[in-house]
Amino acid sequence: MGHAEPQVASQLQSFWMPFSPNKEFKADPKMFARAKGMYFYTPDGREVIDASAGLFCVAAGHCRQEIADAVYEQLQTLDFTAPFLRAHPKSFELAERVTQYTPAGLNRVFFTNSGSESVDTAMKMALAYHRTKGQAQRQLFVSRERAYHGVNMGGIALAGMVNNRRAFGPGLAGVYHMRHTAVPENKFSRGQPDHGADLADDLTRLCNLYGGENIAACFVEPTAGSFGCLPPPKGYLERLRKICDQHGILLVFDEVITGWGRMGAPFGAQAFGVTPDLLTMAKAITNGAQPMGAVAARQEIYDTITEAGPAMGIEFFHGYTYSAHPASCAAGLAMMDIFAKDRLIERAAAMSPRFIDAIHSLQDCGVVTDIRSVGMMAAVEVAADGAPGVRGHEAQKRLYHAGLNLKSTGDSLIIAPPLICEDSHIDEIVTKLRQVIKAL
Ligand SMILES: Cc1ncc(COP(=O)(O)O)c(C=O)c1O
Repeated sequence: MGHAEPQVASQLQSFWMPFSPNKEFKADPKMFARAKGMYFYTPDGREVIDASAGLFCVAAGHCRQEIADAVYEQLQTLDFTAPFLRAHPKSFELAERVTQYTPAGLNRVFFTNSGSESVDTAMKMALAYHRTKGQAQRQLFVSRERAYHGVNMGGIALAGMVNNRRAFGPGLAGVYHMRHTAVPENKFSRGQPDHGADLADDLTRLCNLYGGENIAACFVEPTAGSFGCLPPPKGYLERLRKICDQHGILLVFDEVITGWGRMGAPFGAQAFGVTPDLLTMAKAITNGAQPMGAVAARQEIYDTITEAGPAMGIEFFHGYTYSAHPASCAAGLAMMDIFAKDRLIERAAAMSPRFIDAIHSLQDCGVVTDIRSVGMMAAVEVAADGAPGVRGHEAQKRLYHAGLNLKSTGDSLIIAPPLICEDSHIDEIVTKLRQVIKAL
């Protein structure tokens, strides 16, 4: 099949791998050569079940023919057109289809190429919106400890994970963090935990300290994903919404992971019944088959910025060469068809109780110190062994050899399978997790 796999260490040197221990990987590579449905296959043909949908992207399972065909056809028809001053019909069509899933009122869609770009785009939208309304002093942002908002300069300032920030200095100034919601009383809760709604009052404290009238936006993941599944305490998001409204602060939900069915609803916004002003997404919008992200904005935000612009000139000086790339739009449209045809989001909601029960059955494995779960996402946290993260990293390596792929962060093993998974796949995931965790 195509090119020979690089086999020897000398063939692996040129690629500087992202977010990976390069030295360790190159000494002991863990490769996938192909994938289908729920499974990856290693170069030597070994089957590995995908317990984290690639990286929370592959909601519809790997290598969907419909998406491959749509991209192939698009690349033969219109491979590229500039997204500035020119456009192609599929960009409008996809934006319209996306708004059939976003919460009511969030009906203006700006395309990017990744979650990170979506986050920085949302920051710029917030700043531009306030400035247009005569509130240029709103320059501050609020986010939360343990948050992940991608890796661009805006996103790492918002981030609440020290390793993603410490090598790069202070970054953007004027970003303040609320406390995270992983309070000890919430250990082993299923779905939204009972304790911690009052932690939303950290936003009030920051308003009192810096002036609510100086804050542009408050960014949160409705459920913190990359850190290891921290669902919002009951009442927490409602409280954030209320405080934002009191102070004229935009509420932004970063739904790069929680979007597209992962929470058992189209977005976390609907799953938790709270509507933000801006909503970022990426990953599953194309099933991960083409790079794409988007920001859905409240119409009034679009109208405010657009109407304030000149009659014949650019209103929002922002965009990427590959915004609304034709091949990404083709993949996105094919994915919208799959969401409708396979009823993936309804399927996720129906499967969630079974999934959550199965993952929580791991509670009795010796080193497990917490399990958190919501929708079709869960994290199993194991006790640190020496430095934090060492045991989680070891578990993730052993799981690869045992035939299971997942994402680990620190000592949390994050499970978020494709939404096409069947009972038998959940059983296989839990059996393999049990076997490896018990031997840790
Ligand atoms: C909540 C959130 N925001 C932003 C990002 C960044 O997305 P990307 O890696 O596509 O830039 C991620 C990635 O996992 C994410 O989980």
